Amino acid sequence: MRLTHLISLIAGLAAVSVPGRSIGAPFDPPALYLQWQRDPTTTMTIHWHTVGEAKSGLLHRPVGGAAWQAAAGTAQPFVGTDRWVHTVELTQLRPATDYEFCFSPGEKVFKFRTMPQDLRQPVRFVTGGDVYHEYKWMDLMYGLAGRLDPAFVVLGGDLAYAHGGTNEERITRWFDYFAAWKTNAIAPDGRIIPMLVTIGNHEVKGSAGQPPENARSFYTLFAAPGAQGYACLDFGKYLSLVLLDSNHTHPIVGAQTDWLKGQLAARTSIPHVIPFYHTPAYPGYRSETGSHAEQIRANWCPLFDQYGVKLVFENHDHCFKRTHPIRGGNLDPTGTVYLGDGAWGVNLRTPDPGKPKWYIAQSGPIRHLYLVTLYPEARHVLAFNEAGQIFDEVYQQLD
Ligand SMILES: [Fe+2]
Repeated sequence: MRLTHLISLIAGLAAVSVPGRSIGAPFDPPALYLQWQRDPTTTMTIHWHTVGEAKSGLLHRPVGGAAWQAAAGTAQPFVGTDRWVHTVELTQLRPATDYEFCFSPGEKVFKFRTMPQDLRQPVRFVTGGDVYHEYKWMDLMYGLAGRLDPAFVVLGGDLAYAHGGTNEERITRWFDYFAAWKTNAIAPDGRIIPMLVTIGNHEVKGSAGQPPENARSFYTLFAAPGAQGYACLDFGKYLSLVLLDSNHTHPIVGAQTDWLKGQLAARTSIPHVIPFYHTPAYPGYRSETGSHAEQIRANWCPLFDQYGVKLVFENHDHCFKRTHPIRGGNLDPTGTVYLGDGAWGVNLRTPDPGKPKWYIAQSGPIRHLYLVTLYPEARHVLAFNEAGQIFDEVYQQLD
């Protein structure tokens, strides 16, 4: 063993000691989930929870690699619980490579895969939102997501419903949220599927127009989209995910819109630029005259038109919806398709067939997720219901 590896291993052993744990009991954290804060082709952010305080660190190596490398991270209390949230960001990884990690030598080993640098092989991801009303619904859909073998999942807000109508934080719902994820959101080859998120009203005390301090759990639990509350994540030169905050802890109008314009303007050569946010511009169930819907249509949708964004994912309305292509606030075959509307694991709302909305092509009370496949020249979206049946699709040829 080379000296540097030995030093790394010793450092790792020191970093990953877990106080209070019984000798010989393998450490298997109650919550374990992956995210990306930057370049998904060469980094991975690993989050896990411990009961009580512990130092943050783990060991990792390419699958089949010889030497474990230690990586240290940070830990912060999950205020209101007895848990700590740990974060390690691995960097300088190889693209499209399987890695394994563990918390101590000889203990349980977990796997992940970095993203490829290009679209020579199609890239597949899952998205949906409004996740956890009933555990059994959330659980079922996580399992379906895992079986579809996506590279990652994007969940567009209203995750654990920790903040309900009373604004008292039902904080242990996060434990359920992550327990179900850890059990089910595993690809067929055993690797953990990364989870990207946007913020929704049920992550926030006061729902909307609040300071980030009112969503303390969200900002503690997830390194991404990060303290700014919104972010753009670039995958090579083929995909950019735009994760937005629809006025829960950051206003739609002003700084976020200015930022969005700059981000989209800088990515006109990227074939797949896809925004995700919680409150819909074109609601499937609620009134289109809601203030958030109007603000998004006035501020973000013109930017989608200007910079050629053709596919947007919205949530919050607890139904399925697919809009006609929309451009300039009108039906236009060259426009943007808005998919939604947040019905992963929640009670459903039924759009009134007697009051059709001008922009809706299809809608209905269907719990669902979307499987998106990206090709160099096209993208294909399949909508799956909770029985795993495909019930809708979108195919977009790139310009
Ligand atoms: Fe919502």
